[in-house]
Amino acid sequence: STVDRRPSTDSDSPTHPLCLATHPPPPVLPGDGIGPEIMAVAIDLLNAAGAKEGEEFVFTEALIGGAAVDAANNPYPPETEAACKASDAVLLAAIGGYKWDDLPYDMKPEKGLLRLRASLNAFANLRPAVVLPQLADASTLKPEVVAGVDILIVRELVGGIYFGEPRGIEERNGERVGYNTDIYSESEVQRIARVAFEAARKRGGKLCSVDKANVLEVSRLWKETVQALGDSQYSDVELSHMFIDNAAMQLIRNPKSFDTIVTGNIFGDILSDEASMLTGSLGMLPSASISDDGPGIFEPVHGSAPDIAGQDLANPLAMVLSAAMMCRYGLDLPKVADRLEEAVTQVLDLGFRTGDIMQDGKEQIGCKRMGEELMKLV
Ligand code: IPM
Ligand code: MG
Repeated sequence: STVDRRPSTDSDSPTHPLCLATHPPPPVLPGDGIGPEIMAVAIDLLNAAGAKEGEEFVFTEALIGGAAVDAANNPYPPETEAACKASDAVLLAAIGGYKWDDLPYDMKPEKGLLRLRASLNAFANLRPAVVLPQLADASTLKPEVVAGVDILIVRELVGGIYFGEPRGIEERNGERVGYNTDIYSESEVQRIARVAFEAARKRGGKLCSVDKANVLEVSRLWKETVQALGDSQYSDVELSHMFIDNAAMQLIRNPKSFDTIVTGNIFGDILSDEASMLTGSLGMLPSASISDDGPGIFEPVHGSAPDIAGQDLANPLAMVLSAAMMCRYGLDLPKVADRLEEAVTQVLDLGFRTGDIMQDGKEQIGCKRMGEELMKLV
């Protein structure tokens, strides 16, 4: 969903009603699969937490992914793009499903997501992997290896091999060949590195830049550019560089050695899925994708889980935590974000679990009930 944050209409702020009048009602993107179920929970909580802080959110639904293909024959229709661009933030649930798997590439739900990211220039994808004490034994790794893990992956999201030209599949010498281009300019590397250095500064003060500079020129330029920026502007941040294969290994061997990681689009795609398994609960992980100047996109890391859609089994917590990231990074509403995050912590402390994070001795509940319990706590 895209979200328009309307300022509070407190009588001591006479300019606010004017703002209200000038803000067009904006949309919400529930997407496919479990999307609508988890989005409903997030919207209720945002409204409740916002009301307590004197903030009003206005939501309007827009279509993306498979739902948009079905309705408009386009995974990212122009109306959705216009609505997203006109809003303060875009809250997205999940896209995709078996139904659309065999469509041509440009009609796939995933293409809608990629176009959304590109159209908003949402270049900085922040993916935290935090092992909550309540869920430390959910990982397939030993609890002593993962307890206390708190990693932020900063993934470049609108460049690299995902978008590089030339790309294609064509006939050469009597057979088909497929090719893509991994490409980064210095300015693209600098802007993502800057976001990562700033984040590292506010966190543990350590930044690890991940590349494949022993083989790829694009990575050599990446590494040199990150190092130069660090030397000139962030000498207080402890910068290291690691090759992607080693980073993938160290992430499993000693995840606590990482604080903030910065990397390109495809390495970040892979490492963030890997990091999510340190927590053992993909259903808990939020993400933020922010740009320099326009609205950011806030979405859970998990997908649309078509196998459990419509059965009230989904875990809405990553969606709620994504709404919290929206408040913190997209709307500058840290108090609303705190309320949402604290509600999640408390609901876990009270022993409520959806099936994906169920543990012995806890109470297994569905998506709706999880929403109701959170509403009591927000
Ligand atoms: C992600 C997903 C997407 C990506 C897909 C669905 C296009 O894997 O957000 O990590 O590769 O970026
Ligand atoms: Mg991925």
